[in-house]
Amino acid sequence: MTIPQTMTAIEITEPGGPDVLRAVSRPTPTPATGEVLIQVAAAGINRPDGLQRKGHYPPPPGASDIPGLEIAGKIVAVGLGVNRLRVGDEVCALVTGGGYATYCVAPEPQCLPLPKGFSMVEAAAMPETFFTVWHNVFERGRLVAGESILIHGGSSGIGTVAIQLAKAFNAGAIFATAGSRDKCHACEKLGATRGIDYKHEDFVAVIKQATANRGVDVVLDMVGGDYIQKNLSILAVEGRHVSIATQRGVVAEVNFGAVMGKRLTVTGSGLRPRSVAEKGAMAAALKEKVWPLLDAGKVKPVIFKTFPLAEAAEAHRLLETSTHIGKIMLTV
Ligand SMILES: NC(=O)c1ccc[n+]([C@@H]2O[C@H](COP(=O)([O-])OP(=O)(O)OC[C@H]3O[C@@H](n4cnc5c(N)ncnc54)[C@H](OP(=O)(O)O)[C@@H]3O)[C@@H](O)[C@H]2O)c1
Repeated sequence: MTIPQTMTAIEITEPGGPDVLRAVSRPTPTPATGEVLIQVAAAGINRPDGLQRKGHYPPPPGASDIPGLEIAGKIVAVGLGVNRLRVGDEVCALVTGGGYATYCVAPEPQCLPLPKGFSMVEAAAMPETFFTVWHNVFERGRLVAGESILIHGGSSGIGTVAIQLAKAFNAGAIFATAGSRDKCHACEKLGATRGIDYKHEDFVAVIKQATANRGVDVVLDMVGGDYIQKNLSILAVEGRHVSIATQRGVVAEVNFGAVMGKRLTVTGSGLRPRSVAEKGAMAAALKEKVWPLLDAGKVKPVIFKTFPLAEAAEAHRLLETSTHIGKIMLTV
C-alpha cells in the first residue's frame, strides 16, 4: 500500500474555543524505532483535549501538537525494532497526541488488539479511559472484590468505564456522582449501586447514610478543590483517595488528622507524561485482566455521539455542554 506524503489533521490554530480547531494538511509522520504508523479509522475525544485547545494542557516534549490521545485503525508501516505487530494488523492505541488525523504513530507497547466484535469506533473509545481507570482504580487505588468505591463524574467517559470495571471485578457498593437525575440513572444501568445527583444531593450525607458512617474504601476524584476534604471525610479506615483531575481547583484545605486517624492513602496520577515502558506495563495488565471481559461482551465503552474528523469543532462544542453520557468520537 502506498502511504501519501501528506495527511489531513485537525490543528489548534491558537488557544481558544472550539472554532480554533481547523483541518489542515500536514506531512504524514514516519514511525521511529519501536513505533508503528496507523491509518486512523476513529479517534476518541477526551476532556484533556479541550484543555489543550484552551492552552492549559501543552503536549509533553516530543509529542505531536495535534490533539487526540487515542485511536483505532490499521497498521500501514512499522519502524525498526517492532517485532510483535505487523502491517495489516488492526489495533487501538494510546498516543501522546496526534490522534485527530488520518495517520498517527504509536509506540508498539501502547497498542492493543481490537476486542472481539468491536467496531473501530468502540475500540478507539477505550485507550485513554481504560488505561486511566485501570491504573488509578486498581493499581493505585488497589480496589479489590467486596470493597466499595465512590466515582465522581460517573457519566463521563472515565466514569462510565470505572463503574463497569468496578462491577466486573465484583466491587461492593459503587457510588457515582453525576449532574442530573438522567445521568444518575445511566450510572445505575451501568452497575452503580446508587447514582448521586451532585447538583441536588449532598454526596457526603448520602454515603454516610448508605454505609452507616463506615465510608467507602476508594474515591476516584476528578473534581478536586473543596471535594478533596469531603472525600477524605467519607473514606473508611485504610481508604484510598485517587485524584485524576482538579476541575474545581488544585488547592484544597485538608484535615490531615483524618489521614493519620484513618490511615488513609492520598495518591493520584496523570497518564500522558508517563514513559512508554510504564504505559506498556499498563497495556499488558489490561490485555491480561480486562481484554477477556471485553471479548466476552461483559464491558463495553459507552458511545454518546460520533462526528466526522472535519467536524472536530462541533464535537468539542458538545463536550463543553457536558450533556454527554460516555464518549464523543471522531471517525476518519
Ligand atoms: N489523570 C489522568 O490520567 C486523566 C486521564 C484522562 C482524563 N482525566 C480527567 O478525567 C476527567 C474525565 O475525563 P473525560 O474525558 O471522561 O471527561 P468528561 O466526559 O467531559 O467528564 C467530565 C466530568 O466531570 C464531571 N463533573 C464536573 N464537576 C463535577 C462535580 N462538581 N461533581 C461531580 N462531577 C463533576 C462532569 O459531570 P456533569 O457533566 O454531570 O456535571 C463530567 O461527567 C476529566 O477531568 C479529565 O481531565 C484524567
